[in-house]
Amino acid sequence: MRVIIYTGKGGVGKTSLAAATALGAAARGHRTLVLSTDAAHSLGDSLGMTLGPDPVRVADRVEALEIDVLTELERSWKAVHEYLLRLLASQGVEEITAQEVVILPGMELIAALLRLDAIERSGKYDTAVLDTAPTAETLRLLSFPDAIEWYFDRVLRMQRRVTRVVRSTVGRAMKTPLPSEGFFDTLEELHERFRRVRSLLTDPGRATVRLVVNPERMVIAETQRAYTYLCLFGLAVELLVVNRVMPKEATSGYFEPTRVEQETNLNSLDELFGELPRLPVPRYPREVIGREALERLGRDVFGTHDPARLWPTSPPMRFRMRDGAPVIELTLPHADPASVDLRQRGDTLYLTVGSFRRSIALPVAYTRGQVERAFFDGNLFVIRFRRAEARGAA
Ligand SMILES: Nc1ncnc2c1ncn2[C@@H]1O[C@H](COP(=O)(O)OP(=O)(O)O)[C@@H](O)[C@H]1O
Ligand SMILES: [Mg+2]
Repeated sequence: MRVIIYTGKGGVGKTSLAAATALGAAARGHRTLVLSTDAAHSLGDSLGMTLGPDPVRVADRVEALEIDVLTELERSWKAVHEYLLRLLASQGVEEITAQEVVILPGMELIAALLRLDAIERSGKYDTAVLDTAPTAETLRLLSFPDAIEWYFDRVLRMQRRVTRVVRSTVGRAMKTPLPSEGFFDTLEELHERFRRVRSLLTDPGRATVRLVVNPERMVIAETQRAYTYLCLFGLAVELLVVNRVMPKEATSGYFEPTRVEQETNLNSLDELFGELPRLPVPRYPREVIGREALERLGRDVFGTHDPARLWPTSPPMRFRMRDGAPVIELTLPHADPASVDLRQRGDTLYLTVGSFRRSIALPVAYTRGQVERAFFDGNLFVIRFRRAEARGAA
């Protein structure tokens, strides 16, 4: 299944573009699903129809849904959900309150990722188009499988062992219910599902991110940061859609300064996103609502291209030899070197950029050596490992 993710600042046109892409892809014969992961769902408003947690038919070969956290929780995390409810009940929390409390921050993300996994495994769709929440939340969504991997690997195994011992000893006398084996089984199964979502999202042959901007400085600045973090998490960034470009005929008089400002900002895109193909879209006199308007938007963005096609991308991370030493090269556009931190612990590298951390499991050939040096070479962050001979001598 092909996965297309639209991301960008609030209000730039993500929902409209996701809907337009889905309609265009379906018209070209792809069985398509467009799904909204934004809790403030507006996909239904954009398509002019009511949507829910189950797919609704939009047109031939297109369906749409809006993810609902409670529904997903009950479907995927039953044992965990039940345990948390029992735990809260044992602490005297009323059932109704407990139902509210167990929706932890971040669960929307979990729900969305698990749903994506189920959709992919259903085999029903050739293309899934994701309409996401504004940038910050989407970055958390996309970095989540990486973060959870760490938790599952290190913590879960240990906790399960400890709980078994406690249950057969002091557990008998304790008031607080202990997590059941079912709880841990559910977590292990979730682990497996996150692994699959992660390999789907980081496969540049299947999943790509399309950045949406408007020719406005604040929008561009936010997207520039998002671009760095998406690369950090190994997602392939495919396109830059520049929405709401003022046509010349609309800018005499009152809007003349707007056009001048937009022109300056459009020029800055060369430097900031030069390597990405850029698709401009005009600002229309009216909102883009309903099938007809969305189909027109789709034609204006993609012209004769299939909206679901894969534009060529370069893989964000490469393992290769450079000057006789193994290196990892990561595309990290716009990263401030002062905000980058790199640590190695055993077979894992921890790379922090600003407020995001990525763990990189090292291939065997790298785990025998230590990081020798890391530096920027343009947009590339190069992590160089000690050469084989040096290791032998040490
Ligand atoms: N090119 C455009 N011209 C005019 N209005 C637009 C254009 N693109 C989007 N809109 C309108 O702007 C509003 C926000 O768009 P939306 O797609 O919901 O953005 P997002 O999902 O990024 O928040 C909607 O009312 C939409 O119809
Ligand atoms: Mg939206």
